[in-house]
Amino acid sequence: MLINLDRSSRIPVKEQIRLEIAQRIRSGLLQPGYRLPSVRVLTETLKISLVTAHQVYKALDKEGLTETYRGKGTFVRETASPSGELPALSPYDWQFSIPDSLPRASFWSQSAVRLSPHILDLATASMHSSLLPLELLQASFRQIVDRTPQALGRYAPFAGDEEFCQVLAGYLNKQGIPIKQHQLIVTNGTQQGIDLFARTFLGPGETMAVETPCFSGAIDAFRFTRANLQQIPVDRDGIRLDMLEDLPASIKLKAIYTVPTGQNPTGSVMSLARRRDLLQFAQANNILILEDEPHREIELGRKDLPPPLKALDTTGHVVYLKGFSKFLFPGLRLGCLAADGSILNRLLAAKSITDLGSPLWLQKALIPFFKNPLLPKHIDKLNKALENRRKMVMHTLEQKLDPRISRPKHPAGIYMWLSMPSAINTDQLIPEAHHRGIHFLPGSIFYSGEPATHHLRICWTNLADEDLPAALQILCELLNDSLA
Ligand SMILES: Cc1ncc(COP(=O)(O)O)c(C=O)c1O
Repeated sequence: MLINLDRSSRIPVKEQIRLEIAQRIRSGLLQPGYRLPSVRVLTETLKISLVTAHQVYKALDKEGLTETYRGKGTFVRETASPSGELPALSPYDWQFSIPDSLPRASFWSQSAVRLSPHILDLATASMHSSLLPLELLQASFRQIVDRTPQALGRYAPFAGDEEFCQVLAGYLNKQGIPIKQHQLIVTNGTQQGIDLFARTFLGPGETMAVETPCFSGAIDAFRFTRANLQQIPVDRDGIRLDMLEDLPASIKLKAIYTVPTGQNPTGSVMSLARRRDLLQFAQANNILILEDEPHREIELGRKDLPPPLKALDTTGHVVYLKGFSKFLFPGLRLGCLAADGSILNRLLAAKSITDLGSPLWLQKALIPFFKNPLLPKHIDKLNKALENRRKMVMHTLEQKLDPRISRPKHPAGIYMWLSMPSAINTDQLIPEAHHRGIHFLPGSIFYSGEPATHHLRICWTNLADEDLPAALQILCELLNDSLA
């Protein structure tokens, strides 16, 4: 297990190791039954004392994540098997001796895609297929296959298909971003944009500020680089700028990650004043901002959204990520990135190293949508449907959820961030949730450091109309029962 320690950090080494191992266990990277390195190996590889190594395992045992057997070692806990029994040996146990560099993969571990199909999914943030213009996509694919089959037999330019970039630039211009076609890189979803940014600009010892709580897919990508993540809370106006400004001078920020428009998971929308001030802060300190904006089209229950940070950026401090997965087709895995100057070139180099460009025919298939007057119509229709759903969800929770469980009064966006009394650990509710037939995201995955474990996030757009009431009913019963 490769663990990167920052000996200059204010966080004690013992805590850093415990957190790293805990995150790998929570992510499912270290599976039940996995034998952790012996204390002797830990002391040798990490250059720590025996006492520290013992303390780490003791703390993990206490958290319920591992179980230490005298003379046998420390194992990731088998939640299914009664404690006290040694896990069975497997022919692949030798693989445990092959170290890896994956610090965490929380998004993967909690992805509903891994669950059996009968589970009602209140976790995945995408639209139910009935809310998407699938016939139009079918027609678009047919047209490519019939009329331009060459698109199936060529590489795309690394930055993306020229015509696609052209229509995307036009689309972003309408949203106030004065970007030119050559300033775009087509990515495999915004997740790839996050990853390209991380692998290009972050490395061990460097510091990135992240919202807290924060989109877990982004934390996973940033943690991969071994950079330090500085947690900055969000309030209803977005990331707390006062806390960024108050960071000690010893913390030199290189970048800030933010989802200003419909923050994931809290749904907050950064005010215009905060956007201006944040940009000014970044400019004054030469800090990059990674602006992740997958939610603008879905209006978030309001029509007066402030402009993207990128629309206010005249100095190239903002790298902008536009996602299509929330209003078009997440399965196409397409999104785009907009940046300026040498930042753009370096990201393009990273893109070329990563995959030599996104699939050409998928880009071609989306072109008509960004040209088509049907897109605004689709978005309008989608928002009306979402508004009805939002009302229904609010009403159901109001009627059925115990008032001790707090929820946003005016929820924006497609998420709902629920907070249980602090003694309730929502990670521990997941097996029972699956047993009763639903899945949601435990709040712990939204933290880059020590997690708060009494929150959870639901998304109410992914289920069919007819399944949503049943899922909410089960959710309310489960959460209420946990308080009993
Ligand atoms: C804030 C945020 N960024 C990025 C993503 C990933 O989206 P994509 O499907 O475009 O990779 C998500 C998906 O949930 C998200 O909420």
